[in-house]
Amino acid sequence: MAGQPIPVIIDCDTGVDDALALLFAVRHPGLDLRAVTCVAGNTDVDGVVRNTLTVLERAGAPDVPVGRGAERPLLEPARSARHVHGSDGMGDLGLPAPTRAPADVDAVTLLRREILASPRPVTLIPTAPLTNIALLLRTHPEVTRNIERIVFMGGAVTTGNATPVAEFNVWHDPEAAAIALTAGVPITMYGLDVFMRVVVPGPEVHRLRGSTEPGTRLAGDLLAHRPTQQGGDPEAEEAGGLGDAGAVCAVADPEGIVTRRLPVEVSLAPGPARGQTIVDRRPRPGESEIHEGRRELALVDVALDVDVDRYVKLYLETVGRP
Ligand code: BDR
Ligand code: CA
Repeated sequence: MAGQPIPVIIDCDTGVDDALALLFAVRHPGLDLRAVTCVAGNTDVDGVVRNTLTVLERAGAPDVPVGRGAERPLLEPARSARHVHGSDGMGDLGLPAPTRAPADVDAVTLLRREILASPRPVTLIPTAPLTNIALLLRTHPEVTRNIERIVFMGGAVTTGNATPVAEFNVWHDPEAAAIALTAGVPITMYGLDVFMRVVVPGPEVHRLRGSTEPGTRLAGDLLAHRPTQQGGDPEAEEAGGLGDAGAVCAVADPEGIVTRRLPVEVSLAPGPARGQTIVDRRPRPGESEIHEGRRELALVDVALDVDVDRYVKLYLETVGRP
């Protein structure tokens, strides 16, 4: 219904940029954050739960239910990204421990409950390995009737980060990503190609860091944690990427990205391409289809371009709101 906030659930591995995503979702008036579920990824799942609860308290949203999910991917061992996100998984900012506990049900149960209880179909925003989402879809497939769309941060059309071709979230649990892509739910891929581009300039980050409002200041500190260059202008060094928060911007303001509906397949074979999202951008069938016939592949709305200034402005306006 027009004018009503979009019901959303974020499944995350908080995570510096997952924290930026949570701050945005809590403060955007067009979004109704109904729950947050946690999965192992950037750090272990208990660390993710702790970080998530802390961020929600700072953001002024202490009542959003938080569910603890999978401790490891479906097949792979857990492989953290603490070298990027700090030893606590969220920038080592020295934040206090949260004052409340997670929900007394696991993430999959919480997802099912909140999706089916929502008066309007829910948009799921996974910003992490898709383990919880795959377990949900396999355990409670009836939830798809009340899912509007999945908008996930993951995958890459061109270059990967975990490997030359695979993006971290998909690489961490490729089987889970394959399950999510083929669930028959409309799905948008906010991949590395757009993810890397949305960077908040140093002076804006500096301004956020000077705020007396705890949530706004946290956004600034998180943005400043992003990799910095040695030497040079200290304000420019504070520049930081929105990362996962860009996927939430894409739900609040879908006009800010350009998508194309394309066949996408997750490479599951062992070897150097494992975890790659193979996006078929060819204008016409190739020899493989001519000689071997067409294969049915999931169609995904792949983000190919992003209006960087628009999302930076949207983010700054939103997190600046108390
Ligand atoms: C993704 O990996 C994680 O480190 C980030 O939080 C983001 O979700 C980028 O590849
Ligand atoms: Ca993440």
